[in-house]
Amino acid sequence: MQNRDRSVVVLISGNGSNLQALINHSASGDYRITGVISNRADAYGLIRAKQSDIPTAVLDHREYESRELFDQALANAIDNYEPSLIVLAGFMRILGANFVQRYQGRILNIHPSLLPAYPGTNTHQRVLDAGEKMHGVSVHFVTEELDGGPVIAQESINIEAGDTAESLAIKIHEKEHILYPVVVSWFTDGRLRLESNKAYLDHKPLADSGATINDS
Ligand code: GRF
Repeated sequence: MQNRDRSVVVLISGNGSNLQALINHSASGDYRITGVISNRADAYGLIRAKQSDIPTAVLDHREYESRELFDQALANAIDNYEPSLIVLAGFMRILGANFVQRYQGRILNIHPSLLPAYPGTNTHQRVLDAGEKMHGVSVHFVTEELDGGPVIAQESINIEAGDTAESLAIKIHEKEHILYPVVVSWFTDGRLRLESNKAYLDHKPLADSGATINDS
């Protein structure tokens, strides 16, 4: 079972190192990135996309009077690329309920914490401030609840003495760059589904902490 044509649109706001990891893995043929959309014209990820001949679009949220109008324009831009899957990779805008419902089960996000712990921003510093011993990264389906959709996969790291928010960001990015392309491939291979607010891999419901890439 495959998800139609394996086409993927990636939404970014910044550096796009996860986008780069996704571009690199796409050479395998597991999926095709048919468009990259940014809400910021200066996002470095746009240059990464252009270097790989991937079409890009910029929609500056500040030019829209409301979240609904921005979401509508974003949906139009996405639909131009007719993707099977929408991949959020450092996209720093909250998407409204209508948008999320329109693409139900077809939007993934990567978040730098072991969800449900530490939703929101500034996760590395918050994890350090709380004296945690473990940290990690989660890929999840996007639902109306911010960073709250069913977890698909997680990878964890140990927090060591001397770690800072910066060192954790580096370690987390290394995990993200391995994990995200694998999960996107699960989806475009038709192995991953969202049903009744639960994530399924190969028809089996996933645990609340999702799978690890060793499960693939
Ligand atoms: C990543 O840490 C991701 O988990 C979070 O935003 C960051 C994006 O980094 N959602 P990059 O732009 O892919 O380098």
